[in-house]
Amino acid sequence: MARRPLVRLVNVVKVYRAGDTVTYGLRGVSLTVYEGDFLAVMGPSGSGKTTLLNIMGLLDKPTSGVVIVDGVDASRLSSRRLAALRNRLLGFVFQQFNLVNRLSVVENIELPLIARGVPPRERRRLAEEALLRVGGEASWLAKKPSQLSGGQQQRVAIARAIVTKPKLVLADEPTGNLDRASARQVVEVFRDLNREGQAIVVVTHDPEVANCAQKILVIRDGLIIASRDPSPSQCILARQPRT
Ligand SMILES: Nc1ncnc2c1ncn2[C@@H]1O[C@H](COP(=O)(O)OP(=O)(O)O)[C@@H](O)[C@H]1O
Ligand SMILES: [Mg+2]
Repeated sequence: MARRPLVRLVNVVKVYRAGDTVTYGLRGVSLTVYEGDFLAVMGPSGSGKTTLLNIMGLLDKPTSGVVIVDGVDASRLSSRRLAALRNRLLGFVFQQFNLVNRLSVVENIELPLIARGVPPRERRRLAEEALLRVGGEASWLAKKPSQLSGGQQQRVAIARAIVTKPKLVLADEPTGNLDRASARQVVEVFRDLNREGQAIVVVTHDPEVANCAQKILVIRDGLIIASRDPSPSQCILARQPRT
């Protein structure tokens, strides 16, 4: 059966202008992410990875080119409809976790459900379920994010990203701030979610993370210059954990 395209970019260009200075974020990128995909995007700093992820995630608009999300041309939508589409379809994970420290762990995970108007008891149930699904523990729920390790905080952030059951999770350098053991746990969570059918795009410059995906897209100077198969033996999960 043909897999459904979730996000399609056609010849996407992003130009940043500040006064007389023009910087190219993307120079013409076309790609399609399908249901069930697990893609890694690799490239050096400044190559356009974050720009690409933000445009795929409807957080930013292209200067030219087409972005089709779940069959809808995003350029035709008001910012209100875009926000609704984002909330319904997408989950985000960031390098800095972006958790709200004055809220508890469970309240952080509930945040995207508040935007949807889910009643409190149901929110709590879904948040707890999401945390357990990413290998978190019930004892974390009442804590503040700062009381957890970096690896634990990132798992909370992944729980927040999946609590709405998004079709696609977009992660920007999710292991960039983590030690190897925590990076390994985060990748394990992504792999398990993907095995259950969750589509994931992870931006990384860590080859041990990228090699865990199904496909690696290489980006340089705002262009995808290669698409290659990973080497599973180079995946961080293939290595013996150091104890
Ligand atoms: N808001 C912005 N204003 C101006 N230039 C930007 C902005 N965001 C990114 N850029 C530029 O676009 C290029 C790609 O940036 P980015 O997508 O952040 O790359 P990466 O995530 O791969 O490090 C870089 O040259 C960067 O300086
Ligand atoms: Mg970046």
